[in-house]
Amino acid sequence: MRSFTGQAPGGARLTETLPQAEAVILPRPLSESAGGLSLSPGAKLRVGVDLGTAYLVLVVLDEAGKPLAGEWQFAEVVRDGLVVDFVGATDLLRGMKARLERRLGRELTLAGSAYPPGVPQVEVAATAHVVEAAGFECSGLIDEPSAANLVLHLQEGALVDVGGGTTGIAIVRDGKVVYTADEPTGGVHFTLVVAGSLGLSFEEAEALKTTPSQQSRLLPLLRPVMETVGAIILHHVRRRRVHSITLVGGSSAFQGMAQVIQDYTGLPTRVPAMPLFITPLGIALHSPPH
Ligand SMILES: Nc1ncnc2c1ncn2[C@@H]1O[C@H](COP(=O)(O)OP(=O)(O)OP(=O)(O)O)[C@@H](O)[C@H]1O
Ligand SMILES: [Mg+2]
Repeated sequence: MRSFTGQAPGGARLTETLPQAEAVILPRPLSESAGGLSLSPGAKLRVGVDLGTAYLVLVVLDEAGKPLAGEWQFAEVVRDGLVVDFVGATDLLRGMKARLERRLGRELTLAGSAYPPGVPQVEVAATAHVVEAAGFECSGLIDEPSAANLVLHLQEGALVDVGGGTTGIAIVRDGKVVYTADEPTGGVHFTLVVAGSLGLSFEEAEALKTTPSQQSRLLPLLRPVMETVGAIILHHVRRRRVHSITLVGGSSAFQGMAQVIQDYTGLPTRVPAMPLFITPLGIALHSPPH
């Protein structure tokens, strides 16, 4: 299992394998409260766990939904939405939980999680089992695009999650997810293109790809695989009365990604701030305060 870690707020902390990624991943709204983590004794928290193909993310919000703290960890414990390394996922999540509890000075007992739409029920249950094996009571599960839309409040359009392993397409009408699809192209493929083209290891390519100052020079290399994402989106949205695209997922943070998708599909495309954290924040919002 390959893994490396980061955290917010208080400054991203990364292992040696990802020396330059702080500026990329550290979610600003999570970091704003850096140093201000003393919670009042009765404060209630909402906790969300996102088990992704590339990253495990754990976020904590206050009762009103304001982000307080988060942890993320690169890990290969989930593939295409399915937990493939139960013990690895549980161990990593338990460590993230312990680190956040130390920073918050508070035990985290309840957490919600999410699943990609369309995965079999037994796999949905496996997600809850990881959350529980890591020491939480699982407060509930929500499908990932609906979680993201708790944050974005889209009424109409395509909500596209370009994650690590897959691109998830959800079509939203009247504020509800009415169509979903998931296709196997995502940030891991972007990293493999960088690694293959520049003769780098996966870890080196990942660090380079997620460094903002390097992204304009990598864009020509990655444009074809981004256009594959564009073709996937177009295939699912054409003939479905979609007039705009909103990108979420960590790979949407690549500078220039939205423009490539917009040029390819001909549909206005936007990326909210912190696209990596939109789904995790929505998962936490869906979880009851405790
Ligand atoms: N700033 C960045 N620029 C480009 N790519 C990034 C950036 N930050 C993270 N990524 C990429 O985002 C991906 C992880 O995103 P995310 O956490 O949304 O995926 P996931 O949920 O783990 O995967 P999936 O949804 O496919 O199961 C990784 O491939 C990572 O390299
Ligand atoms: Mg994901």
